[in-house]
Amino acid sequence: MMLDVACAYRPSRLEFHDFGPDLGDFRQALIDGLSGPDKAIPCRFLYDARGSALFEKICKLPEYYPTRTELGILRAIAPHIAERLGQGVQMIELGGVSSLKARILLDALDEPNAYIPVDISRDHLRASAEALYAEKSGLSVLAVCADYTQPFELPTAPGSGPRMGFFPGSTIGNLRPDEAIAFLASWADRLGPGSVMVVGVDLRKDSAILEPAYDDAQGVTAAFSKNLLVRANRELGADFDPDAFSHRARYDAASGRIEIHLESLADQTAHIPGKDGGDVAIPLAQGERIHVEDSYKYSLEGFKTLARAAGFRPTAHWTDDNQLFSVHYLETASA
Ligand code: AVJ
Repeated sequence: MMLDVACAYRPSRLEFHDFGPDLGDFRQALIDGLSGPDKAIPCRFLYDARGSALFEKICKLPEYYPTRTELGILRAIAPHIAERLGQGVQMIELGGVSSLKARILLDALDEPNAYIPVDISRDHLRASAEALYAEKSGLSVLAVCADYTQPFELPTAPGSGPRMGFFPGSTIGNLRPDEAIAFLASWADRLGPGSVMVVGVDLRKDSAILEPAYDDAQGVTAAFSKNLLVRANRELGADFDPDAFSHRARYDAASGRIEIHLESLADQTAHIPGKDGGDVAIPLAQGERIHVEDSYKYSLEGFKTLARAAGFRPTAHWTDDNQLFSVHYLETASA
């Protein structure tokens, strides 16, 4: 049992804090989102087990440059980050379920004190936390199962090293800019004075690169979007025909976001069984769209402006040679 490993030579610990995140009721969100004229399904429902597996496949697609580009940047900058932060860092990763990116930084840091991954995916989080704890001596792993957009209590790590928030993957792009500011501001507050936040942010670029990244030749991203309908059929007994929808990814240069929709290929009516019997009918006209995701992209200056609005000082950034992706180093007020 992993929890009993601590000994005199290893004063570190493994903890699992479960705040039992309530993802919300999928049925209610679906019915609410599909009943009006502007149809949408919240993108947090994309990540059930099948959706998470499809997302992992997306990360390896030739067209999907963000993951491999960010990994390359992190490998190159890890020593700089380690030098800036010094000894005994406590790293809090938002969405830390794979820990692949965190490992790159943890390997470079000088005796990091604690790794605190926060994720809603309970089983994956537990497994990766245990694996990391077994591998890294001296590192406390305090896993937190929670929705990191909601308030929850952050476990206190042993030691008093600097706190570093880590939010990779351009996941911040799923938030509207006003939501992103509020989100970063709340983390600036929680991390406290003298802390840093390292954020991976996808950069604005030509739609000829962006659109294939969100509409790949093998159709993996299409399957990922349509998984919302597959999931509704499996979990709720709905009768969506995924083949009667087309995945559309379009870059809106004015707002700097990729907009993803499922477009109805015919006049059709789907049904979602209600909670107390009786179906809710969802009529869709040919060409009508269900909005399933936005992915905002930023210029280097645009993201710094946003970070400043959230109360951070952006003190460094790094990109790859092709300026596809950026990693920002943000500081809270000094201690
Ligand atoms: C996980 C939100 C960063 O926006 O690039 C990838 C999600 N959707 N392909 C992104 C996603 C379709 C991804 N994020």
